[in-house]
Amino acid sequence: MTEINPVTDLTLEGDVAVVTLNSPPVNALSAAVRDGLHQAFRKADADPAAKAIVLICDGRTFIAGADITEFGGAMAGASLPEVQDAIEGASKPVVAAIHGTALGGGLEVALCAHYRVAVPSARLGLPEVNLGLLPGAGGTQRLPRVVGVETALSMMTSGRHVPAKEAKELGLVDELVSEDKLREEAIAFAKKVVAEGRPLRKIRDQNEKLEAAKGKPEIFENFRKANARKFRGFLAPEYNIRCVEAAVNQPFEEGLATERKLFLELMSGPQSAAQRYSFFAERQAQKIPDVPDDTPTIPVNKVGIIGAGTMGGGIAMNFANVGIPVVLIEVKQEALDRGLATIRKNYERTASRGGITAQQVEERCALITGSLEMESLADVDLVIEAVFERMDIKKDIFTKLDAICKPGAILATNTSGLDIDEIAAVTKRPESVIGLHFFSPANVMRLLEIVRADHTSKEVIATSMKLAKKIGKVAVLVGVCPGFVGNRILGQRQREAQKLVMEGAMPWDIDRVLYDFGFPMGPFAMSDLAGLDIGWVKEKSKGESIRDVLCEMDRRGQKTGAGYYDYDENRNAKPSPVTEKVIKDFIVKTGANPREVSDEEILERCIYPMINEGAKILEEGKAIRPSDIDVVWQNGYGWPVYRGGPMWYGDHVGLPKVLAKMKEFQAKMGDQFKPSPLLEKLVAEGKSFKDL
Ligand code: CAA
Repeated sequence: MTEINPVTDLTLEGDVAVVTLNSPPVNALSAAVRDGLHQAFRKADADPAAKAIVLICDGRTFIAGADITEFGGAMAGASLPEVQDAIEGASKPVVAAIHGTALGGGLEVALCAHYRVAVPSARLGLPEVNLGLLPGAGGTQRLPRVVGVETALSMMTSGRHVPAKEAKELGLVDELVSEDKLREEAIAFAKKVVAEGRPLRKIRDQNEKLEAAKGKPEIFENFRKANARKFRGFLAPEYNIRCVEAAVNQPFEEGLATERKLFLELMSGPQSAAQRYSFFAERQAQKIPDVPDDTPTIPVNKVGIIGAGTMGGGIAMNFANVGIPVVLIEVKQEALDRGLATIRKNYERTASRGGITAQQVEERCALITGSLEMESLADVDLVIEAVFERMDIKKDIFTKLDAICKPGAILATNTSGLDIDEIAAVTKRPESVIGLHFFSPANVMRLLEIVRADHTSKEVIATSMKLAKKIGKVAVLVGVCPGFVGNRILGQRQREAQKLVMEGAMPWDIDRVLYDFGFPMGPFAMSDLAGLDIGWVKEKSKGESIRDVLCEMDRRGQKTGAGYYDYDENRNAKPSPVTEKVIKDFIVKTGANPREVSDEEILERCIYPMINEGAKILEEGKAIRPSDIDVVWQNGYGWPVYRGGPMWYGDHVGLPKVLAKMKEFQAKMGDQFKPSPLLEKLVAEGKSFKDL
């Protein structure tokens, strides 16, 4: 064996040279990896004893992409195109042997090999779009030549990781090999290629699949139209599409040049910077300074959930989806039956769209059993309480849980803002109590706020973080405070949105500004969707707010065909003259003085107080780091990924500007806008949140 460099080995196995990469954790294409590959391929190519070359990786995966940490800096060592030329231009067959994931630059390297084999569990994809980028190493030109234009467009704009079996059907993989025999079967495959005298197949020369799309610009236009909603606001999908157009309309080398130009444009732009930041922010959030990776965890093999409503049912599905049995507790049989029926209906809907099989529906439903007895929770490892937001009810439940549950069981509450220390205090085991705040719909939304109370043990935190990953959630650890991180910040935006209406902006003006900023919908459209009557009590309503008046008129949102907006039979929203009159009458009644409110003011009034509240949260230690707040807002509240999150956005607008505006608003409107001391301090020191 020859060590080419610390991350690359070259061995000769019979007459096959094997290049092995070993650069944990994911064999990303760092300078050392590129150099190692470059040298190893040149050496293997020059060795007359080697008749073919296999490229394989040690560890958990094939090359998972370019090394994102190197982006933005100067590139050292061999360039990726140099490496690719050495592979594609080799004078003997090169076989890429794939396990784990071949992603981004990893797949682009594999596409330069003359053949590809993979184990069945491998996945292949070009996920650059999720980093606000496009595959910048020939992927946009080679992929459509292999899988065709339409499939390439869909793979590149979704970033989907295609399973090996499908990749084989698409022609991306030539042969599937046994799961635990990748190395030997890849070598055998290489020998077969040599023995059969198969050609050095270069994807760059294959144009047949492109022919079908030549002279048909409508393919691209239709694709753009069909996905307009999904791509709204993002630059990268459009740039990926343009590259595939170039693959069809330009010769290979020119296509590469177009790809390069568009790649560099994206790479130097603000969207990709925000999206790359988000990638690392999500991973950073998993690191808890005083809860090291080796903290012991509690096995969770059975879960209990109290409350079979929308929230409880959605939470239950998360566990059933990964094979963990759930006992769902309700007080009345009727509510339990309704909850279980809703779960079944949700699974059946997923199955009808092809998401899961009919058999999986049955398996998952069978994992969720119902009970009217809290005693059924005696043997569960984790209980999640998901009942009304009333402290007295929660305390009662936790007192009972303390008596019923086995020692060491985790007792969690799904409260969205109540004091978890107060709940924990009714038990004799506050160390086992934690907040697991899911977001509705709980089976869909990715965010899980994990709320650490004063006495929560490290084991319980570590277990919760690990479990979140298992059920596909993005977990963020936060501290106890009213509304925790997400809802506390949301409160700022909601307050300002309501005030702005009283000052003369219409709900649809505010919604439009926030929608154009990139949110999926504005606060008033959101209220209409959720129902204006959440928390509204008809008997007690005295027309004291615009919401009260609308509810009294039975304008309770989409479900009644009207709320802030009017809705047609397809639930399309229109600004409502009725609501406008209600607002104007209300303003007259309260003696307010309406005025012209600019779009700029709407944005600053809604967003800057959120940034300021984030700073207060950091000051109080309720979030570990600014990027955790951004992860919460992206995954729980639809903050556009290409704007990073409130804290990232604050840094990029410039904290001096945010501070100056907060002071201006404070002088005009009072202490709701009082700048946080942290914001003042950062500005005084010329720093930003990223310096914390
Ligand atoms: N560069 C640098 N570091 C990377 C990385 C990359 N491409 N991919 C993953 N990592 C790091 C992560 O930051 C993480 O580090 P820490 O342990 O220090 O937090 C570690 O590798 C493990 O990653 P995950 O926690 O995500 O592990 P996982 O097993 O859940 O997922 C994965 C593995 C599917 C490969 C996932 O990490 C992933 O999706 N990575 C990004 C893949 C990607 O986007 N590739 C394209 C890169 S851009 C490109 O290639 C441009 C081009 O055209 C040349």
